[in-house]
Amino acid sequence: MKLKILTLAFVLAFSASIPSINADSCPNVFFYFVGNSLSDYKNLTLGSTFATLTSPYYDITKKTIFYTTGWMCDYSSFDAQTILGALLSRKSAYNLVYVDWSNYTQDWFVLSMLNQTSCVANTVYQIISQMQTQLALTPDKINFVGFNFGAHLFGYVGRQFTGTKVGRITGLDPGAIFTFTDMIFNAYNFVPLQSSDATFVDIIHTSNDKFGCKNATGTVDFYVNGGFTQPGCSLIKSFLDYKPYQDRSHGYLLVCSHSRVVFLYAESVKRADTAARPFLSSRCVTGTTTYNANNCTDTSDNMSMGYFAFNPPALSGYSNIFYVATTNNSAQFSLT
Ligand SMILES: *[C@@H]1O[C@H](CO)[C@@H](O)[C@H](O)[C@H]1NC(C)=O
Ligand SMILES: *[C@@H]1O[C@H](CO)[C@@H](O)[C@H](O)[C@H]1NC(C)=O
Ligand SMILES: *[C@@H]1O[C@H](CO)[C@@H](O)[C@H](O)[C@H]1NC(C)=O
Ligand SMILES: *[C@@H]1O[C@H](CO)[C@@H](O)[C@H](O)[C@H]1NC(C)=O
Ligand SMILES: *[C@@H]1O[C@H](CO)[C@@H](O)[C@H](O)[C@H]1NC(C)=O
Ligand SMILES: *[C@@H]1O[C@H](CO)[C@@H](O)[C@H](O)[C@H]1NC(C)=O
Ligand SMILES: *[C@@H]1O[C@H](CO)[C@@H](O)[C@H](O)[C@H]1NC(C)=O
Repeated sequence: MKLKILTLAFVLAFSASIPSINADSCPNVFFYFVGNSLSDYKNLTLGSTFATLTSPYYDITKKTIFYTTGWMCDYSSFDAQTILGALLSRKSAYNLVYVDWSNYTQDWFVLSMLNQTSCVANTVYQIISQMQTQLALTPDKINFVGFNFGAHLFGYVGRQFTGTKVGRITGLDPGAIFTFTDMIFNAYNFVPLQSSDATFVDIIHTSNDKFGCKNATGTVDFYVNGGFTQPGCSLIKSFLDYKPYQDRSHGYLLVCSHSRVVFLYAESVKRADTAARPFLSSRCVTGTTTYNANNCTDTSDNMSMGYFAFNPPALSGYSNIFYVATTNNSAQFSLT
C-alpha cells in the first residue's frame, strides 16, 4: 500500500513534465518493409508512396506480419532481430513489416511511453489505411505480433478497425509494470490487449505481474510453466540481466522470464509446417486462477502455442486458458 502511494506520488510529480502531444497523430513512426535479409529494408512513413513497393519488400498476394517491440527496444534489439530473423523463413507466405515507434519507447520514463501509445496507434492505423488504399491490404490478411508494450500498441491499432477486424494479434507477454499495473493502467485509462481487438488474439504469458500482464484477456491465453517464472530465471537474475545502455545489439530489456517469450515464439516459427506441432498445450478447467498442471489436463485439441496457435472449438467445462510446459534454459524449449 505504501509503495502504491509512493508510485502515485511519482506519477503525479512527473505528469507536468510530459510534453503535450497531438492526440490525433504522432510523428516519427516508421514502417520497415523487410526484403530478403534484416539489413535490407525500405523505411517508409505516413504520406510515403507505398504503391511503388514490390517484392521482396511487399507482395500484394501475401499476408503481412507486422512486428513491434516495447519499452527500451528498437529494430536492433534482440527481440526484433530474433523474431524477424525467424520469420524470414516464412517469407514465401508473409510480407514482414517492422513498426518503429522507438521515438516513444526509448524514454526511461515508462509512463511517457504509456501515455502516448494511443496516439502512436492512431498513426500506425493511418499508415495501414494508406497501405489498404495503395496496396489493397485487407485487415483479415494482417497478423500483428507485439512484445511488451508493443502488444498493447497493436491492441489500440486493432480497436480502430470498425468494419472487418484484423485477422490476428499475437501478444508476447504484453507489458505490465509489476504490482502497479492496475493502478497505472486505470490512472491513464490504458486498455490492455484484449480478445475483441482482432478476430483471433493469442497471448503468451511468461512473467505474470512483473514485466508481463497476468490476466487472460485474449481469445486464447498460454501460461508457460504457469506464467510466473521461467526455468533458469529468477527475479534476481532478471535484474542482473538488465543491461541498459550496455549492449544495444541485445536490447535494453534483456530480462530473463519476460525475454523468454521471444525465444519461444521464434522457435515455434522455425518449426516445420507438419502435423508434429511445437509447444503442445493442455487446456485448463473453467475458473482456473492458478495455472498449474493439475487444473490443465485436456489435450484433445492438440493446441500449439506460438506461430501455429488457433482458435479452438468450445469445450464444456474448460476455458480458453492453456498450460504449456518447457524445461530447458535454452533452445530447444519445446517438449513436443
Ligand atoms: C499525456 O498525454 C496528454 C496528451 O495526449 C497530455 O496532455 C498529458 O500532459 C500527458 N501526461 C499525462 C501525465 O497524462
Ligand atoms: C528511418 O527513417 C527515419 C527518417 O528518415 C530515420 O530517422 C530513421 O533513422 C530510419 N531508420 C532506419 C533504421 O533506417
Ligand atoms: C523524438 O523525435 C523528436 C523529433 O525528432 C526529438 O526531438 C525527440 O528527442 C525524440 N525523442 C526520443 C525519446 O527519441
Ligand atoms: C485484471 O483483472 C482484474 C479482475 O478482473 C481487473 O480488476 C484488473 O483491472 C485487470 N488488470 C489488467 C491489467 O488487465
Ligand atoms: C486449481 O488448483 C488449485 C491447487 O491445486 C486448487 O486449489 C483449485 O481449486 C483448482 N481449480 C481452479 C478452478 O483453479
Ligand atoms: C490430436 O492428435 C492425436 C494424436 O496425433 C490425434 O489422434 C487426434 O486426432 C488429434 N486431434 C485433433 C482434434 O486434431
Ligand atoms: C531439452 O530438454 C529435453 C528434455 O525435456 C532434452 O531431451 C533435450 O535434450 C534438451 N535440449 C537441450 C538443448 O538442452
